[in-house]
Amino acid sequence: MQHDVVEKNIGIMIILIIVAISFGTLVELVPLIFSDESQQRIEGLEPLPALALEGRDIYIREGCNTCHSQMIRPLRAETERYGHYSVTGELVYNHPFLWGSKRTGPDLARVGQRYSDDWHRAHLFNPRDVVPRSNMPAFPWLFEDEIDGTMTGRKMAALRKVGVPYSDTDIAQAEAAVAGYHEIDAMVAYLQQLGTLLKARR
Ligand code: HEC
Repeated sequence: MQHDVVEKNIGIMIILIIVAISFGTLVELVPLIFSDESQQRIEGLEPLPALALEGRDIYIREGCNTCHSQMIRPLRAETERYGHYSVTGELVYNHPFLWGSKRTGPDLARVGQRYSDDWHRAHLFNPRDVVPRSNMPAFPWLFEDEIDGTMTGRKMAALRKVGVPYSDTDIAQAEAAVAGYHEIDAMVAYLQQLGTLLKARR
């Protein structure tokens, strides 16, 4: 088919665009559907505890994922720097995925346990205090606000609907589990568990 025919006929153009995009999507999806590795949860995978779950929501609220990816590609330069590449089996409970697509800062997929809790607190209060040349914004307000736990149980119940195995007890105890904690505690709890399951086995 001549190119100018396609370029001058929006109907054909739309159909061909749909065909091209569908083909690309299938090429990415089909191997995953049939690969065993992608179906298996890695050993020890648990839903996020209540406090870490609240931390994850603050991570989303503050837009951490706009500067940090959570997806280590299976390339030597990445695995040497960050650790084991990300596997689907450790991400099955992530709703929504926080893979990100931009790395203004480093990938955080395996940042858990790399620094102490105190380091994270100092870093989030003012990154320049621990990394002098950092251009990451400061998040001092995380130290002021307490977690509002009234929705925590309902968030867990919603996640359970999409397959995250929270128990009735988890949901019933969620509000008490986060009571009295500040947002910074939740943020650090979330960061400290990131990617630790596979890191331990490296
Ligand atoms: C505007 C971009 C930007 C945003 C938004 C941002 N960061 Fe960062 N982050 C950076 C940069 C750049 C670095 C590297 C310098 C440093 O360590 O401070 C970094 C480093 C980090 C590190 C250390 C990683 C390592 O392996 O050394 C952590 C942890 C971190 N950020 C967490 C967060 C969290 C949590 C949030 C949201 C509350 C956040 N960042 C928001 C840019 C950003």
